[in-house]
Amino acid sequence: MSDTRIAVFSPGNGSNLQALIDGVEAGDIAAEIKVVVSNRKDALSLERARKHGIEPLYITPVDCKDAVEYFNKVSKELEARGINLICLAGFLLKISPEFIRKYKGRILNIHPALLPGFGGKGMYGHRVHEAVLESGVKFSGCTVHFVDEEYDRGPIITQRVVQVMDDDTAETLASRVLVEEHKAYKEAVKLYVEGRLEIKGRRVVVKRDR
Ligand code: GRF
Repeated sequence: MSDTRIAVFSPGNGSNLQALIDGVEAGDIAAEIKVVVSNRKDALSLERARKHGIEPLYITPVDCKDAVEYFNKVSKELEARGINLICLAGFLLKISPEFIRKYKGRILNIHPALLPGFGGKGMYGHRVHEAVLESGVKFSGCTVHFVDEEYDRGPIITQRVVQVMDDDTAETLASRVLVEEHKAYKEAVKLYVEGRLEIKGRRVVVKRDR
């Protein structure tokens, strides 16, 4: 096992979290998921964490005056647990630049489209798939990328593609993309944990398996 201690920020259904848990439990990802962080108390992801013996951690932003204060609070919790990799999955709060700088190169995100298209502020959830359908593109997919200070713009680690069908709705497209998200996220985290990702400018180069 590597010494990678992961925090998954998952305030929703947690299907990507589940994919990562499955990857760890199957021995494909040699790391430990120490904690699942959510800014929503009722997130299904917290329940998934409990089921797998992972600490669920609800951190409310309600009594914080701004993002800086909230992410300072989050940061303290992560430090206390020795977290050295953060995986975002459906985490929509705007992360403070201080936090991003502190964990530079150690925050991954999954986006349900092929970046740099269909990303940026306000592009989340079904809005992404609606925009894809409206645009008329024939392929969509998902992207796992490093997080930097600009929304959905950090260096891309991996992408997976799905075909857009003539009769697709945002829902049908979202569900096919989600299947690929799970594979892409597992692959990206595995490569990260194995120390095989090298950031060269805007590109991420995958080093060969030793
Ligand atoms: C996924 O579509 C992800 O790409 C997006 O939010 C959704 C999270 O789904 N950013 P889940 O909570 O992992 O099921």
